Amino acid sequence: MANSSRAPGRSRRLRAALVVSAAVGLLATAGAVVLPGSASAASTLGASAAERGRYFGTAVAVSRLNDSAYTTILNREFNQVTAENEMKIDALQPNQGQFNYGNADRLVQHARSQGMLVRGHTLAWHSQQPGWMQNMSGTTLRNAMLNHVTQVATHFRGQIEWWDVVNEAFADGSSGARRDSNLQRTGNDWIEAAFRAARQADPNADLCYNDYNIDNWNDAKTQAVYRMVQDFKSRGVPIDCVGLQSHFTGGSNYPSNYRTTLSSFAALGVDVHITELDIRNAPTDAYRNVVNDCLAVARCKGITVWGIRDSDSWRSSENPLLFNGSGQKKPAYDAVLAALNNGTTPPTGNPTTTPPTGNPTTPPPGGGCTATVTPGQVWGDRYNTSVTVSGASTWSVVVAITAPQKISATWSGSPTWDSSGNVMTMRSNGSGNTFGFTTMMNGNSSARPQIRSCTAG
Ligand code: XIL
Repeated sequence: MANSSRAPGRSRRLRAALVVSAAVGLLATAGAVVLPGSASAASTLGASAAERGRYFGTAVAVSRLNDSAYTTILNREFNQVTAENEMKIDALQPNQGQFNYGNADRLVQHARSQGMLVRGHTLAWHSQQPGWMQNMSGTTLRNAMLNHVTQVATHFRGQIEWWDVVNEAFADGSSGARRDSNLQRTGNDWIEAAFRAARQADPNADLCYNDYNIDNWNDAKTQAVYRMVQDFKSRGVPIDCVGLQSHFTGGSNYPSNYRTTLSSFAALGVDVHITELDIRNAPTDAYRNVVNDCLAVARCKGITVWGIRDSDSWRSSENPLLFNGSGQKKPAYDAVLAALNNGTTPPTGNPTTTPPTGNPTTPPPGGGCTATVTPGQVWGDRYNTSVTVSGASTWSVVVAITAPQKISATWSGSPTWDSSGNVMTMRSNGSGNTFGFTTMMNGNSSARPQIRSCTAG
């Protein structure tokens, strides 16, 4: 039930700073083209996306970083990277207990040197498991999976903006069921267990659920993932984002209700990401539509294409990417850049509404300590609160919020929850006398948290 600690404000500021520095870096090298009689139009995907508060990224195969044609395009065009294979379980833990971070670290180094954001992919998945894990089951497997999540998220702590914590856990077709796998057979709660372990290991990374065939709003699989995210949010399971792989290759097509899918997930209070985009034969219309749909949804944070040149693609025979095998821009590239340049600039991460009115209640006297509330930053959909305790060095403070508001994140304390999820008991955990939390307003912008008690010890 407990939310794990994290500091969303810190994480978001870091992200904004990185996007801006990436944009500045790209503009400095690539320059911005100013068309006569028009607003300035950026000349690269990353710079243009950054002007809209988004990223534009690509999957990278670390072995190709030695190919200068590849690296030239990568550094010029993209401000986000995902390891195509190098952060998967078989790559990072080939033998149980033996971690091999060489290639993944190399990619992270490259990204940092270029001001690119890194998406970690992926901590828990039925596929690309090392042999030793494929042969496991039950509690042994559950513990091995949780250990992998903890070790890997700890190793990369501070370097990963978003983790695909769990990948592809739902079945295709009309069942809406979980996909059968050795992980699923350890118990239905394996996904939330993975998210909790990831949050504990790296409180500042945003944690995503990632899947394919969840693009069409009417599909049973999309609806099933939606219900899981809704359930996680309502129970305080730490989830921040949903990744739509959006492989419109291998027989699946861009659906006309894609924007509805993006905005419906976003309305649950999670960010959405387009994480592995490729489209068979790279039609300009479909690429343009994907960009426009993302730009239309404020919580769509960015787009990652699954490779740079057609020859780099996992489905190279479908020529699904933005550059041809010689590294030349295809018509789809021009369509994407134009759509990005035509897009509107979303609100920045600054507060967009005034703080809710009304003072929070102060706790009744007695209990051996006093808790003082300081309202924090406010966004359109959520607000932060910090609470400072005086009179005791170890304490517990009971905070009640008003449904449908929900606490979505906490920091600098150890929370537990009552069964309604609306009453949080925050205990000191050695990180000082001020704790904080983020409350999603969920349509109620006037209610404030109530401090019910402060108890020393
Ligand atoms: C693919 C890689 O592109 C291939 O190189 C590898 O052989 C198999 O995996 N969904 C995912 C990605 O989440 O990790 C997959 O990447 C493509 C489908």
